[in-house]
Amino acid sequence: MSENIQAIVNKMTLEEKAALCTGASAWTTTPVERLGIPEIVVSDGPHGVRRVADVNSMNMNSRPATCFPTASCLASTWDTDLLHTMGEALAEEAIALNVDVLLGPGVNMKRSPLGGRNFEYFSEDPYLAGELAVGLINGIQSKGVGTSLKHYAANNQEFHRLSISVEVDERTLHETYLAAFEKAVKVAKPWTVMCAYNKVNGDYCSEHHKLLTEILKNDWKYEGFVVSDWGAVHERVTSLVAGLDLEMPGPQERRVKAVADAVRNGTLDESILDDSVGRILGIVFKAKKTPKTGSFDAAQHHILAEKIASEGMVLLKNNGVLPLKDIQQIAVIGQSAMHPYYQGGGSSHINATQVDIPFKELQSRSENVELAYVEGYANDDSFHQELIDEAVKTASEADAAILYIAPPPSWESEGYDRQSLDLPKQHITLIKSVTKVQPNTVVVLNNGAPVGVGDWIDDVAAVLESWMMGQAGSAAIADILYGRINPSGKLAETIPHRIEDTPPFLNWPGETGKVFYGERMFIGYRYYEAKSIDVQYPFGYGLSYTSFQYSNPRLSSTSFKDKDGLTVSVDITNTGSLAGKEIIQIYVHDHESTLIRPEKELKGFAKVDLQPGETKTVDIHLDFRAFAFYHPIYKDWITENGAYDILIAASSIDIRHTLTANLECTLHLPCILDKESTIREWMDDPRGKIIMTPMFEQIQNQARRTFASDESEDNGNNIGMDVMDMFTDMPLLSVFAFQQSALTMPAEEMLDSLLNQLHNLE
Ligand code: BGC
Repeated sequence: MSENIQAIVNKMTLEEKAALCTGASAWTTTPVERLGIPEIVVSDGPHGVRRVADVNSMNMNSRPATCFPTASCLASTWDTDLLHTMGEALAEEAIALNVDVLLGPGVNMKRSPLGGRNFEYFSEDPYLAGELAVGLINGIQSKGVGTSLKHYAANNQEFHRLSISVEVDERTLHETYLAAFEKAVKVAKPWTVMCAYNKVNGDYCSEHHKLLTEILKNDWKYEGFVVSDWGAVHERVTSLVAGLDLEMPGPQERRVKAVADAVRNGTLDESILDDSVGRILGIVFKAKKTPKTGSFDAAQHHILAEKIASEGMVLLKNNGVLPLKDIQQIAVIGQSAMHPYYQGGGSSHINATQVDIPFKELQSRSENVELAYVEGYANDDSFHQELIDEAVKTASEADAAILYIAPPPSWESEGYDRQSLDLPKQHITLIKSVTKVQPNTVVVLNNGAPVGVGDWIDDVAAVLESWMMGQAGSAAIADILYGRINPSGKLAETIPHRIEDTPPFLNWPGETGKVFYGERMFIGYRYYEAKSIDVQYPFGYGLSYTSFQYSNPRLSSTSFKDKDGLTVSVDITNTGSLAGKEIIQIYVHDHESTLIRPEKELKGFAKVDLQPGETKTVDIHLDFRAFAFYHPIYKDWITENGAYDILIAASSIDIRHTLTANLECTLHLPCILDKESTIREWMDDPRGKIIMTPMFEQIQNQARRTFASDESEDNGNNIGMDVMDMFTDMPLLSVFAFQQSALTMPAEEMLDSLLNQLHNLE
């Protein structure tokens, strides 16, 4: 805490300090006028500013703001600079709307495509989510507006979100569910972090000392404050001790009193309260350095929202029908052509400054093309054959059909999970029926999380995934359909064939208050690859109207020290006739590891813009973390000596080049062998091996004397097993106990003496 802040804390009364740690209203902190401590205003987030008109009421009416595409679309841009630019625009709106801290971004992992808030989250990959969050946070905070990185941590479903306990092992927690938070906290330093509602391994996140204090504040050196999700605090004093600085919403007089009483009666150490107060004041004064006045350029932001949408849309299939050409008549089918499905439900819902209509945007770009619109499906999931018949008739009379397909409104929202991967029966029947009469059928999907494409995809000519595209996305769709924009988004999440194939299928959404993360680090492509499960569209996939060649792959070195990392370079050439953008992905595969690892993991990416025939060199640095994994016994990220493949890829299954390099581990790790370590573990440990090697032979000889290992050398003691195979994975102590008669001292003493020798080697 700075001296200035400390001086203010010293002047505050106990009641004032307790009050500062609880909101004054749903959206403001508590001011202390006597000491010149102002309030700050916080607002949702994450893809627009939802500034409620009256911060003192629970009325949801919010002022108009730009509704940018939601996180699924943002992530599919793979463009951190673009997210930075969007962040700046969000901050400009926050400043104009008198908002000090924007409640976002959300970096929770997409564990299942059914997660109700998946549209608010970036990816199934923690590396990608972390990088994108850094771009967005840096953009917002560069203008003097704060962010709230949420929801910390492991908030991956809506079912029982206020109470469910996520049962997750430590390695999975760090590698999969904390990594994006860690990256964002360390690199972008969000002013605030919002704790999640759920429990992790039995403790509410709001009362989780390990998450909030040990990991976030101590290990990651986080200096901002932790705010509760709205209503996430249960026991206020416990949460304060755990590291939860600000409780929202307020006012909560009894909480303030509970904190003050706890200090008075000695159950709460006042220094803990002071630390929280110091953290909150640090942000309050920082926020007030940016005056909240003026207006924002709604028209410019609308254009930016359109650009972002166009970069995030993913062309999934194209038999050549796109971009549209030589067409006189188009059947435009589907409710969402007139009523765009462009954002999700819940606290992120923006009162958009304007909303473009897909049909109108298409029409304004359709010179000499006649458009005929029909509804196709109702505003819910009811079945109407007559709407399908009408669509079929219209489609059969046109040169092409564009089906705007979106699930019923409210399908995807905060507060509940999606019930089905697949679209309603009406939508599926509509697509299938139209494709029967119209070969040039293009499906434009709007959804926050992927929908199953079933067998309807086989007969459609093209599919454009346009996500929850924000208020200006309709124009981006039309531009892509007509080839004014070359699609360049790639999937930040896998599209599976069936819900039964998805990683948590048997552990979703949990029962009796718990959800077990049994698939561990294997979510998304890590899971499908480990189990050789075929998917509809893989992570990292997306088509373009042009083609790219990857050539001249090279590494800065073929042997390197972990702390130095490695730079991978590749030349990318646009080999087609249209300008376009390519997303290059770098995955790392570890040849051999002591702990199980995914087949490969994304560790770098870049997006390049290329004119036809143009070549650019892309250099991507892979740092220590690109090769490390979290070891639950060392309680740290470690590397291991050995060979690593560097895969230069256009998607997670489209590997263009593989290079190999040898890593030298520079870590000096403490020895973790103990009384339960097996012979194999002793032999795998470099120091253990020195001691174990001579013993190993003795153990082996003794085993041979006692048991024969195959029928031919039967010494009368054959029990049909290779005893050494069993011994190798038994604790050394138990092996000694078996062979006690051949030892010169008791088994326990023998092991103690070996462990002593081992520690002398450290
Ligand atoms: C949501 C948060 C949101 C907060 C304030 C909660 O219900 O989980 O994401 O920021 O409400 O609206």
